[in-house]
Amino acid sequence: MSQTLFINATIATSAGKSGYGLRENAALLVDGDRIDWIGDMGERPAAGDAEVIDCARRLLTPGLIDCHTHLVYGGDRADEFEQRLEGASYAEIAARGGGIASTVKATRSASETELFDAALPRVKALMDEGVTTIEIKSGYGLDSDNEIKMLRVAARLGETLGLRLQKTFLGAHALAPEFAGRADDYVTLVCDQMLPRAQAEGLVDAVDVFIESIAFSRDQGERVLARAQELGLPLKAHVEQLSNLGGAVMATQRGALSVDHLEYLDAADVVRLADSGSVAVLLPGAFYVLRETQLPPIDALREQGVPMALASDANPGSSPVHSLLLIMNMACTLFRLTPAEALRGVTINAARALGMQREIGSLETGKLADIVLWQVERPAMLSYRIGINPCVAIMQGGCWRSRGGLS
Ligand code: NIG
Ligand code: FE
Repeated sequence: MSQTLFINATIATSAGKSGYGLRENAALLVDGDRIDWIGDMGERPAAGDAEVIDCARRLLTPGLIDCHTHLVYGGDRADEFEQRLEGASYAEIAARGGGIASTVKATRSASETELFDAALPRVKALMDEGVTTIEIKSGYGLDSDNEIKMLRVAARLGETLGLRLQKTFLGAHALAPEFAGRADDYVTLVCDQMLPRAQAEGLVDAVDVFIESIAFSRDQGERVLARAQELGLPLKAHVEQLSNLGGAVMATQRGALSVDHLEYLDAADVVRLADSGSVAVLLPGAFYVLRETQLPPIDALREQGVPMALASDANPGSSPVHSLLLIMNMACTLFRLTPAEALRGVTINAARALGMQREIGSLETGKLADIVLWQVERPAMLSYRIGINPCVAIMQGGCWRSRGGLS
């Protein structure tokens, strides 16, 4: 088994309860696919047969994790971007049959190969900036065959690109057009047919729902999550994005891994989230693109110790964003997260939001060796600059995925 010894590194480990978990003048040994040792330069193990990488004080971080995306879809929604600039709101566009429904049409008419080819450059853009784990949701198919088609494409992206890929079933993303006026019947179909079939094909790692005035009620969302629980699947939920329907509290009471968006979450609800173990996934890309002004209750989340993750929410409507570094900057600038919170948000807390924190998300002995070397010396640089990609090399599970920046 091959070994790699990183020396003279500054390491933001994301270990510990808060902050960067910073180690300066440090070394890290990878053995096979795992981290075998991490500590001070003076105490490092002998190199032996290991390949030695001199980091020259540059920064190592865990591989970044994008824990909420909708990267597989047909078409685009640039026309709606123009409509919103002329004054139409996201909800108005959805109400007149645009929005998610228009992507559903384009996704249904695309083949698996077309969806794969369209998603590839989006996924690669994220990967180029050090992303080693991506979650991809279904939710633009809205019938069994098309939801399964999306999830198959997601699985194939992971296999082809050597990524860690989590597939989330989001059949209750919007009401399928053929069920207009019959939302409860659609939810029954999701629970009784779509979800069990997708699970039987081995395509579901978690189940998500969109609880919102333009999507499903809290009770409808709860039916889907209850069914997912019966099937033994982890839960997630899009909640409190445009209004407060009480979805976050319901989902956390059912033990959801994460509740996502949260702009309209009340400070009082945050208290109920606090001890639930659910992660608050913040999506500043959607906040920015929709020119939202209602901020998620960041201070309350921080005070109550709710873990905060960040994600791209990459999708054709509310967040055509394919850069986690930009998301980190937006989280600091728009939501006033600290750069340390931003880094935790795309590493250890994103791992928690996927239920993968025992394997990835921090640089600690025994974890998988998903490691990024950056051309910066201080971790705040990752959130601070816009439009420069300082990623030098990426190791995934102990193997180099890209090392073009290493001489
Ligand atoms: O997370 N909020 C619901 N779903 C996506 C948007 C999907 C779309 O507009 O196509 C989101 O923002
Ligand atoms: Fe989303």
